[in-house]
Amino acid sequence: MKTALIFGVTGQDGSYLSELLLKNDFRVIGVKRRSSSINTMRITNLLNHPNFEVVHGDVTDTSSVYSIISKYSPDHIYNLAAQSHVGVSFNEPEYTSQVDGIGTLRILEASKTLVPEVKFYQASTSELYGGLGGGSLNESTPFNPRSPYAAAKLYAYYLVKQYREGYGLMAYNGILFNHESPRRGENFVSRKITTELSNLLNGSVESIYLGNLNSVRDWGHAKDYVEAMMVMLKNCQPDDFVVSTGNCYSVRDFCKESFAITGNLIEFQGEGLQEIGRVVAHGESGITNKRIPIGQNVIKVSPKYFRPLDVPHLLGDSSKFKKASGWEPKYSFSELVYEMVENDVN
Ligand code: NAP
Ligand code: GDD
Repeated sequence: MKTALIFGVTGQDGSYLSELLLKNDFRVIGVKRRSSSINTMRITNLLNHPNFEVVHGDVTDTSSVYSIISKYSPDHIYNLAAQSHVGVSFNEPEYTSQVDGIGTLRILEASKTLVPEVKFYQASTSELYGGLGGGSLNESTPFNPRSPYAAAKLYAYYLVKQYREGYGLMAYNGILFNHESPRRGENFVSRKITTELSNLLNGSVESIYLGNLNSVRDWGHAKDYVEAMMVMLKNCQPDDFVVSTGNCYSVRDFCKESFAITGNLIEFQGEGLQEIGRVVAHGESGITNKRIPIGQNVIKVSPKYFRPLDVPHLLGDSSKFKKASGWEPKYSFSELVYEMVENDVN
């Protein structure tokens, strides 16, 4: 039985990846950092699995990275650990660099020294591109990071290439576009919309306050994307691969789709800070009977959620990866949003 070591096991992707690897007969060791309250909610169902183990460690702590890799001698390492919120990275740039940038260096150095035959997966990101051009982005598109998060991930991306080309480490960059799920953190825009929509239906809030409604993202389902990580290491030679759906939607579209699933149809009016999303009609819904009064202003814009720089448009072209691995995403945008809304409303 092969051993997979996951840094970032308590996160959205770490939890789905653990489940998938266990189903595929891996022994999974998950690294969890210390926290003052319980942060294993996403992996509770796995804690008693005989092939699953959680160990304390932190990618900002070199000794813990070395001792864990030395103790378990993994066959595969997935580095998913990150301060993963782009907006937060503007407020905590140094910490973000320590975790997302130098943290990756620590794991690569320990891997090169202790387990040079390991397959190493790095959670690279579409944020590397900056998204100013508007077209479809692939492995040849130039990078233009527009946040401390993206700058730290770019540093990590190039380290992975250097350890692959310089030391022969079997290291992969998965350049993943946005992926969401009912397990998505509640301060990312998709999950914020679906949790706040549930609060609106319960009457505990009257409006949802969002930032830049114009942003366009290539949104996929996290379950499809962790499968991509696993098949990348299984089916492909070490390289850099874009993973995306090839379809994109705006934040405004995400709002409209979410509300429509609950039978509350909204339209947007106005511009800039004055823009509002308003309920204009009622329709069918398979998941709730609750209706928000027609005319209620349910989406408002707050400058609090604007970033000093934003990434306007991300659309990926993953043909290289699809050809090399045989991977195809199973979830459509509508299915993804439906699952998230259903989960939060119920
Ligand atoms: P997430 O839910 O925020 O999970 C991040 C994980 O990293 C959590 O388990 C977190 O632990 C852990 N972590 C944070 N700081 C750490 C540290 N110092 N030492 C050890 N672990 C630490 O993120 P995700 O959505 O699953 O994303 C997984 C990875 O893919 C991240 O690297 C992210 O940057 C990257 N990525 C994500 C997307 C996306 O759309 N989801 C797209 C491209 C790339 P706590 O639970 O204690 O916070
Ligand atoms: N979070 C958030 N909250 N974003 C908002 C809001 C809001 O209230 N209103 C509008 N947005 C806009 C952001 O400005 C951004 O342009 C877009 O919605 C998406 O924001 P997030 O959901 O926070 O995701 P992200 O695209 O910045 O970053 C995610 O995807 C990256 C891959 O492209 C994260 O998962 C990163 O870790 C990942 O690398």
